[in-house]
Amino acid sequence: MTAKVIHTADPQMKRILEISESVAASRAAVLIHGESGTGKELLARYIHSKSNRASKPFVALNCAAVPEGLLESELFGYEKGAFTGADQRKIGKFEHAHQGTFLLDEISELPLSLQAKILRVLQEGEIERVGGLKAIKVDVRIIAASNKVLTDMVAQHQFREDLFYRLNVIPVEIPPLRNRPRDLELLSQFFVEVSCTENGLALKKLDESALAKIKSWRWPGNVRELQNVIERTVLLTAKPVISEQDLHIEGFTAAAAGRDTTIRPGMTVEEAERLLILKTLEHTEQNRTRAAELLGISIRTLRNKINEYKMEVGLE
Ligand SMILES: Nc1ncnc2c1ncn2[C@@H]1O[C@H](COP(=O)(O)OP(=O)(O)OP(=O)(O)O)[C@@H](O)[C@H]1O
Ligand SMILES: [Mg+2]
Repeated sequence: MTAKVIHTADPQMKRILEISESVAASRAAVLIHGESGTGKELLARYIHSKSNRASKPFVALNCAAVPEGLLESELFGYEKGAFTGADQRKIGKFEHAHQGTFLLDEISELPLSLQAKILRVLQEGEIERVGGLKAIKVDVRIIAASNKVLTDMVAQHQFREDLFYRLNVIPVEIPPLRNRPRDLELLSQFFVEVSCTENGLALKKLDESALAKIKSWRWPGNVRELQNVIERTVLLTAKPVISEQDLHIEGFTAAAAGRDTTIRPGMTVEEAERLLILKTLEHTEQNRTRAAELLGISIRTLRNKINEYKMEVGLE
C-alpha cells in the first residue's frame, strides 16, 4: 500500500506542506525531523515533486541500512581498481542524483569521517569517486531526515556542527501522529478505503468505538503502524462495520490493562463519561481547550464535569 499524496487535516501539517511548497523550487537544504513512520520520506518526495527538478531523479540512501565500510562507495562510487574487487567503475548515489534530489535518510548514523565529505559536497558542489583522481561536479538538492535530535548529537560531538548548520537551512518538524487528532480520523478512514479498494472488497467503515480506540492509542510507529493495523483489520474483519474489538493493536491491551480504561456494559453513563474525559485529557496532554474541542463541549462544561467528578487531572 503506497500513498503518493500526503493526506492531512492537521493544521500543523498543512503549514508544513505550505512551507515545503514555497521552498521546493530553491536548492536550499531541508532537514526533516520526526519520529519513525511520521512521513519523512513521503515529505521529501513531495518537495522533490513540487520542485523544478521533478523530472530528474529522486535518490534516497538510508545511512543506517548500509554497513559502514560500504557507505563511502555507495555515496561517491569508485574507480576500477580502487580496491580489491573493484573490477569496474561504480557510480555512486550522488552522481545518480545529479540535477535531482538526494535524500540522506537517518543522517544521524553517518560516521564523522563521511560527515566531513558530505560537508565538502555541500560547500564545493563536487564529489570524488573512491580511488578517483579528479573532482566531479554534481548539482544535487539535499534533503536530510532523522528521528534523532541532531542538536543533541552536536552537543555530544557525534555530529559535526558545521554540517548541521549546512543541512538545517529549512528545518521541518513533523509532529507525531498522536498529536494530530484530525489526521487520526482522516487517515484511518483513508486507509480503510485504500485497503478495501486494493483488495477488491466492498467498502467498510469504522464505527465510533473503533475511532475512539484509535484516538486513545499512542501510535509509537505513527502512520506506518496505523496503516498496518487498518489493513490487517480490513482483511480479517468480514463485517461491513469495524468496531473497537476488531482492531488488534499490538501492545494495546498491555498498555491499557493496568488502568482498565475500557468502556464496557455494566458501566454507568457517568463512569463512561468520566473515562472518556480522562482519556481525552491524556491525549491532549492535559490541554483543556483542545480536549473540550475534541469532546464537542465548551470549556466551561468540561471544567464543571472535572469538578463534578472530582477528577485529579494535571494543569493546563
Ligand atoms: N500524511 C500521509 N498520508 C498518506 N500516507 C502517509 C502519510 N504519512 C505517512 N504515510 C505513509 O506511511 C508510511 C511511512 O511514511 P514514511 O516512510 O515517509 O515515514 P518515515 O518518517 O520516513 O519513517 P522511518 O523513520 O521509519 O523511515 C508510508 O507508507 C507513507 O506512504
Ligand atoms: Mg524513512
